[in-house]
Amino acid sequence: MGCMSTKLVPEGPPPNSGNLVTTVYDTGQDGKGKKTKHHRDRKREKNGVVKETGSNSGTNGGGKKPKTYRTKFDTRVTAKYDIKALIGRGSFSRVVRVEHKITKQPYAIKMVDRVQGKEVFESELMVLRRVRHKYIIQLIELFESQDKVYMVMELATGGELFDRIIAKGSFTERDATRVLQMVLDGLNYLHKLGITHRDLKPENLLYYHPGHDSKILITDFGLSAFRKTGEGNGHYMKTTCGTPEYIAPEILARKPYNCQVDLWAVGVITYILLSGTMPFDDENRTRLYRLILKAKFNYNGEV
Ligand SMILES: Nc1ncnc2c1ncn2[C@@H]1O[C@H](COP(=O)(O)OP(=O)(O)O)[C@@H](O)[C@H]1O
Ligand SMILES: [Mg+2]
Repeated sequence: MGCMSTKLVPEGPPPNSGNLVTTVYDTGQDGKGKKTKHHRDRKREKNGVVKETGSNSGTNGGGKKPKTYRTKFDTRVTAKYDIKALIGRGSFSRVVRVEHKITKQPYAIKMVDRVQGKEVFESELMVLRRVRHKYIIQLIELFESQDKVYMVMELATGGELFDRIIAKGSFTERDATRVLQMVLDGLNYLHKLGITHRDLKPENLLYYHPGHDSKILITDFGLSAFRKTGEGNGHYMKTTCGTPEYIAPEILARKPYNCQVDLWAVGVITYILLSGTMPFDDENRTRLYRLILKAKFNYNGEV
């Protein structure tokens, strides 16, 4: 059983980009980034899919002690937004549901530690500042304080694809196809811009609303890489990163790789959607990687 989601951060600082969003600055003071993004506690759920225990993921329900988080917010943020509930968290980040004080419009704010999460938020911003697409989460505005970065994003209220797989066991071929078409549409857009997501998985695909017909939004660009201008399609990356169960064999083999690694992850997601189980699954990471490198899997369905 694979139960880990250690992530290594991608290479190099991103180039400055044209802004699609407003940025509110404080006295910026950068720290040194860390190599590991996070390692979540997960528990095993039915059908071989693993579930996070550390996050109240995806929904905007009661929230966990929002007051604790309210006090940690920069006053410029709380002057504009009411902090409602904690809806997700990683090692260096917290995601909260907020409400704009005047418009009453709900949003999500991802708050990242400037020092520990440096490379993560830099990657995320490098992407979010450039993208506008119906299947990709939209950044609304940005606040920067001395120790934190606050990304105000549109709020996805339908929860993670992950939770719907857990709830349903597996998807019908038709429903799986619908999800995958949206993911591939968003991914095609990203790849054309030279962006490789590098951490596609059901936890990072959010439903826009709770309905069955909701669209999907690709989120969490903390491990993304951006092709620098002039590199063309021959852009290859070297950094070993991702979430173990979804990592492509070429990354594990430490070969230079390109955006096709995202399509490998889509393949893994496809398998999970249709079967409710993981194609490559072993609690021992070395054995898991061996399975992936061999690309050895069984599928017992009728698809
Ligand atoms: N815009 C959003 N709307 C609703 N929930 C969100 C949003 N962004 C993140 N979340 C929730 O918070 C969790 C963690 O956010 P994510 O960006 O994936 O951070 P991490 O890098 O810690 O995985 C997500 O899995 C999701 O459940
Ligand atoms: Mg995530």
